[in-house]
Amino acid sequence: MPTVAALESGGGGGQDFPAKLTGQVLICSIIAAFGGLMFGYDIGISGGVTSMDSFLMKFFHEVYERKHEVKENNYCKYDNEYLQLFTSSLYLAAIVASFAASLFCKRFGRKPTIQAASIFFLLGAILDAAALNIYMLIAGRLFLGAGVGFGNQAVPLFISEIAPARYRGGLNICFQLLITVGILVANVINYGTSQLQEYGWRISLGGAAVPAIILLVGSFIIVETPTSLIERGKLEAGLKTLRRIRGVHDVDREFEEILHATELAKKVETNSFRNLMKRSSRPQLICGTILQVFQQFTGINVIMFYAPVLFQTMGFGSSASLLSAVVTGLVNVISTLVAIFTVDRFGRRVLLLESVFQMLIAQSVMGGILMKFLQSTNEMPQIYAKIVALLVCVFVAGFAWSWGPLGWLIPSEIFPLETRNAGFFFAVSMNMLCTFLIAQAFLSMLCRMRSGIFFFFSAWIVLMGLFAGFFLPETKGIPIDEMNERAWKKHWFWKRYFDEEESPAPAHLEWKDTMTRN
Ligand code: BGC
Repeated sequence: MPTVAALESGGGGGQDFPAKLTGQVLICSIIAAFGGLMFGYDIGISGGVTSMDSFLMKFFHEVYERKHEVKENNYCKYDNEYLQLFTSSLYLAAIVASFAASLFCKRFGRKPTIQAASIFFLLGAILDAAALNIYMLIAGRLFLGAGVGFGNQAVPLFISEIAPARYRGGLNICFQLLITVGILVANVINYGTSQLQEYGWRISLGGAAVPAIILLVGSFIIVETPTSLIERGKLEAGLKTLRRIRGVHDVDREFEEILHATELAKKVETNSFRNLMKRSSRPQLICGTILQVFQQFTGINVIMFYAPVLFQTMGFGSSASLLSAVVTGLVNVISTLVAIFTVDRFGRRVLLLESVFQMLIAQSVMGGILMKFLQSTNEMPQIYAKIVALLVCVFVAGFAWSWGPLGWLIPSEIFPLETRNAGFFFAVSMNMLCTFLIAQAFLSMLCRMRSGIFFFFSAWIVLMGLFAGFFLPETKGIPIDEMNERAWKKHWFWKRYFDEEESPAPAHLEWKDTMTRN
């Protein structure tokens, strides 16, 4: 396997374990990140499909008619609870599925969870592409949701566990990168299929099968994470895999650290959900969950789901709207690359804080322009519509190099092993719940709050800034199983939650006697 760099000490101010960035880690991370492609494809496809006439005519006739009435209120023409349910049903299913996935992931490992995700997703894509009625359509969405729940639960954990600490941020963000690629591809496909009268939407929805198949095939190549193997008692396989993915023979210290974490987990654990309710789990639980709430309340999915609808509301033609969504998608992908190359160098907090300013300015100016120039039934002056489109790009860029990827990365790296699956479940399901709420409520909110909706999101962005500034510890470069010691117990606020806790001494080297060494 090719190697890029060897390291002895990491960037978190303490000791890192010996490791190279091996080809194996790179390949496994990229394959797993295809789970992000499935997720992203889905996010991107629904907005475009729900603005296609042929789709509306078949499943949502009322919306179709309203859309073509010239006098219909600009802000209200897409307000239809079934149309919103089409988009949001997936996220409901994903919440339930991510709970099941957290148990499955712990019991059977990360790899089978990723495989299950791709199978659910494939079934969903087939059902949706073949849908004859609204029930089939929604059933397809539910399967896709199960795929997203399983994938989003397993993939970020998988990558964070196999990555050397020093590269964890960048590698983990491959997941987000493929989310953004998925959104972009979906937008491009929608742009193409919207020209096909009858069945364009079927191609769009069926296209979800492609990333699912890639992930399914790829998932047979990836390794299981050493942590998951060791946690399930497969010490020898865990050690072997660790040596293979680290590209060095001397992995004893890291192996001991993982062993220590698993022993600690077993000692305290009867039920990891109950464990999560303990006082010392509160800092990670609060921060992991709230990060996902904030991620969604940036308002990003208003843009991701409804950009074409939003652009049409501002008076862009149907295909100009889809094209603008493609441009936004491109900005999203490129800006995520910025995060990959900066997150392990400058740290998580710098990115989060910078983007707060950027997103705040973009959202509030956008709100101001719409308030002034877009009334209920007028057509907005094109120059302002274009400025709003530009501000959308500024906003998306800020999100894409901060709260987007870090909303997934940080919750996947902050929990100790004994609460990792359960804790990450809370983060994933909070993401799904908030996505659901926004997907379900946005069109009605737009109808009632009009441009005020952008100020609503701006207020959230201010809160996010305060949270990142005062309450989030820096996790850059810290090995995942040392997070409590080196991040939480040192934080000015959260350290009080650990006062009474004494962590047991590290596991000693008996494993060497009980195991055949290779
Ligand atoms: C979020 C999605 C969002 C996407 C946009 C992801 O991190 O979880 O809700 O649509 O980023 O790129």
